[in-house]
Amino acid sequence: MSNVMRLVVLLSGNGSNLQAIIDACEEQTIQGQIVGVISNRADAYGLERARKAKIPTHTIDHTLFKARESFDQALINMIDSYEADLIVLAGFMRILTEGFVQHYQGRLINIHPSLLPAYKGTNTHERVLAEGATVHGASVHFVTAELDSGAVVAQVKVPVEAYDTASTLAERVLRYEHVLYPTVLQWFCTGRLRLGKDGAYLDGELIDTPLQLVVEP
Ligand code: GAR
Repeated sequence: MSNVMRLVVLLSGNGSNLQAIIDACEEQTIQGQIVGVISNRADAYGLERARKAKIPTHTIDHTLFKARESFDQALINMIDSYEADLIVLAGFMRILTEGFVQHYQGRLINIHPSLLPAYKGTNTHERVLAEGATVHGASVHFVTAELDSGAVVAQVKVPVEAYDTASTLAERVLRYEHVLYPTVLQWFCTGRLRLGKDGAYLDGELIDTPLQLVVEP
């Protein structure tokens, strides 16, 4: 077990992506170990999922910190106590400081509910519907200091149906995310995926356009 990648997951809410990652680690479709889960909200259901899986949990309440920098430093202290190889953002709804992002350069990964660079930020499902788009999706990317930017590794396309509301669409996107995220994490855990100076590399080849995964959720 000693060279299994150590993952720390950061979340703020329901944690369905965390659940997909827990399940994949148990089934060994991710050859990694979640060593800790940290939330900025004590009531995040994701913490309950982690406790059920016997994973150590912590809450670091951002409202108790005056400055973003001091919150991020508390996060860094906690994460580094776990000697994490990869920090997995799974619905972590805080903007991270440049210092935090630089500290974890190449070891910080996020899933975002849109086909980046389209629809950065929040309320992506509402905006997709308001604009009448017929295709939506999700992206996994290495994180840089700019919001929802950084090297996009892989994406899935998700159809938008005529009857969709923001919540039916969000639910469908999540089902695709639950396949996409474990797939990309396994690439990292097996040493196939890394961040280079000019972008992300898979099997030594630069990913110049995001890989499109065909997913049957
Ligand atoms: C997911 O849809 C994830 O892509 C999104 O939050 C949701 C978390 O769901 N993340 C972001 O919007 C980050 N900008 P979950 O808590 O059930 O995994």
